[in-house]
Amino acid sequence: MISEKMQEALNDQMKWEFYSEFLYLAMAGYFKSRSLDGFANWMMVQTQEEHAHAVMFFNYIADAGGRPEVRAFDQMENEYESVTDVFRKTVEHEKLVTRRINDLMALALEEKDYATAKFLDWFVKEQVEEVASPQKILDQLELVKEEGNALMMLDRELAQRVFNPPVVA
Ligand code: FEO
Repeated sequence: MISEKMQEALNDQMKWEFYSEFLYLAMAGYFKSRSLDGFANWMMVQTQEEHAHAVMFFNYIADAGGRPEVRAFDQMENEYESVTDVFRKTVEHEKLVTRRINDLMALALEEKDYATAKFLDWFVKEQVEEVASPQKILDQLELVKEEGNALMMLDRELAQRVFNPPVVA
């Protein structure tokens, strides 16, 4: 049974995962508006991953004897300056999520809530890739400075990404 404080913190993180889902959907919309369908595909896969993360929190809260609460969030950001701007914001966002997951883990350990710590362990590992993956694309974008041919090549590469549901060992 999770504590009230932990239930609140997990529900808050569930909201952030749903927020991430919609943030990436808004970014996919920006790419669609620029006919960059490969970039849009990459972001659509990202939305699917974030939805899966949110549902993992939902299920865990319920399984741990808590009450999942679905919460609203503010208007999404739909306007972006450039492709690079989108990925810069993606990396910033994932670094913020990483800090939040680490804070949750610290709370679980402080409360000696080892079941929640074990649940969060998957997210701690996942966040390494969640930052590294958009960072790599950002590095490439900064290298090519959004030059037309290079951008189209990257767009074709990102079109290959497919959603793989999370596997929790
Ligand atoms: Fe669910 Fe991208 O962190």
